[in-house]
Amino acid sequence: MFSEIANHFQGETNPLYRERDALLARGEKLIDLVSGNVHHHGIHYPPPALESALHEAVEQARIYRPHPRGQPAARDAISRYYRAEGLSIPPEQILLTPGTSLSYWYAFKIFAEPGDEILSPRPTYPLFDAIAALAGVRMVDYRLQEGARWAIDLDYLESQITPRTRAIILISPHNPTGAVADEAEVARLAEIAARRRLPILSDEVFSPFLFRHNRLPRPAGTNAPLVLTLNGFSKMLALPGMKIGWIAFSGEAELVRKALAAIETISDTLLPVNEIAQFAVPALFEGAKAFLPTYQTAIRERARLTVDQLSRSDRLSFIPPEGGFYLTVRINDPKADEEQIALDLLRKHSLLLHPGFFYDLQPPHLVLSFVSEPSVLEQCLAEMIAYFKTRER
Ligand SMILES: Cc1ncc(COP(=O)(O)O)c(C=O)c1O
Repeated sequence: MFSEIANHFQGETNPLYRERDALLARGEKLIDLVSGNVHHHGIHYPPPALESALHEAVEQARIYRPHPRGQPAARDAISRYYRAEGLSIPPEQILLTPGTSLSYWYAFKIFAEPGDEILSPRPTYPLFDAIAALAGVRMVDYRLQEGARWAIDLDYLESQITPRTRAIILISPHNPTGAVADEAEVARLAEIAARRRLPILSDEVFSPFLFRHNRLPRPAGTNAPLVLTLNGFSKMLALPGMKIGWIAFSGEAELVRKALAAIETISDTLLPVNEIAQFAVPALFEGAKAFLPTYQTAIRERARLTVDQLSRSDRLSFIPPEGGFYLTVRINDPKADEEQIALDLLRKHSLLLHPGFFYDLQPPHLVLSFVSEPSVLEQCLAEMIAYFKTRER
């Protein structure tokens, strides 16, 4: 009766999440050290600015006049945002989506036939498996090197290109390693994309959160033949429920035209972005001028606190994150069972962390997000360090 997709999507099966659900059902309080939802951790887009943006938008959206690429006022505001970041991407080359996950799906659909390959970083954030299954594409890994501050192994990346490769994904700042691809990496990636005539999908959802760089090195600033830059308000403005994302197209004019026309037609078929949210985009950017600097400072300080605290443990090692919300920690015991450790931390310390294999990391690793409130972070990290100190090997 059912399709392969229905067989594939049969809910949560991993032991860690089964255990978490059982503990929650018993009324236990858990501390989630993996959620990237900052408003569970005291960071909120200012409510008065949000209310006033939505109030005006309701009036503007009163008469339904959808645009397949999204309302021009929203695309103008996004184009201005890129101009301030030093990139010229005209509003006509921007298309609104309800979030980056759907942006990926659109992109996979216009570049790949079923069974075609998309190159993506390993480790990687786990949602790709589901999006790839929906789009019928195969994700093929390229390595990020832990021994080289998680830099891209570009020779290996190129060796992974086959006649069925259809696109290269770059995630920078990266989830879960916290790596930011530097100018040289981005330039070489663009050079490979140009030589192999492949589009780059540049996932920049963590772009405002940089701890070392002043500005994010971006494929859209290179001469790659075609770049789809993916971003949105979910992380950037701490507004995941607003469901505003976008794709900014850049590169050779004919390729940009063709990609835009195809995605515009898919988007026109679905018209998935809430019109009130679209009309609110310019005011939401405006309201972010006061909010974003405090938000960025809070994330940077939480990252610093996490680095300081974890550095005190000789049982754990890590590359300090250069951006984003996540950190990958190596357990300095090659025989450690990372899944058992994650289960122990959950059962005995009420801490939810992810074992590395969720992200295709070689064991033994753990992944955590550092966006929790400082007092919570301090306590949880101290408990975690104490756990590793006393753990029997
Ligand atoms: C690297 C990365 N890209 C995309 C997303 C999803 O973004 P959105 O909320 O816009 O769908 C996430 C969510 O955590 C992410 O970590």
